[in-house]
Amino acid sequence: MGIHLLGRTSFGDPKNAGNLMTIEEAQQLLNDWVPNERLRLHMKQVAAVMKAWAIEKEGADDTTALKWELAGLLHDADWEKYPGDHCRIIIEELEKRNIDPEVIHCIASHGPGYFGVEPLTSMDKMIYAIDELSGFIHAAALIRPGQYDGMEIKSILKKLKTPSFAAQVNRDDISDAVSRIDTTLEELIGFIIQHQKNVE
Ligand SMILES: [Fe+2]
Repeated sequence: MGIHLLGRTSFGDPKNAGNLMTIEEAQQLLNDWVPNERLRLHMKQVAAVMKAWAIEKEGADDTTALKWELAGLLHDADWEKYPGDHCRIIIEELEKRNIDPEVIHCIASHGPGYFGVEPLTSMDKMIYAIDELSGFIHAAALIRPGQYDGMEIKSILKKLKTPSFAAQVNRDDISDAVSRIDTTLEELIGFIIQHQKNVE
């Protein structure tokens, strides 16, 4: 992922608080913007983990859980078509659609080292922590005969210490993200495995 500083830290309009889209509308946007099935699956996996985290760990109500899910589902929506402007294009699209600023800020802060936006809310911090790790765990599943069946947390920890495995995944980002939350790397890996294994 290249550096694409957004050059601002405020997103959306506060008067749009509570304005969301349906999951079907978000899926439609993905179908229009993201031909790559693997990238769509990545976003669906991050969405499933985000939603589960909101409900199980934060006691979120339906509306809040939908915010977390939408942020996960849309965070890389512009990556395939606009690699040079990744993050900026989807943010501008969501601003145009008058979407809740919390969802937009969450997407803007999913890579502080790349977009220059610090994660502030727990939703922001969790997308940063889940995103890279989710992709890493899926890469590990793809090389296993049973994919997610019997996948162990310790084998993921070992692969994280093997620089040649999924070399494009930045281990420093993962450590930085996990250092900002109240959950251990082990616990987060277990949670991600459990909640993304059945996503299609
Ligand atoms: Fe991502």
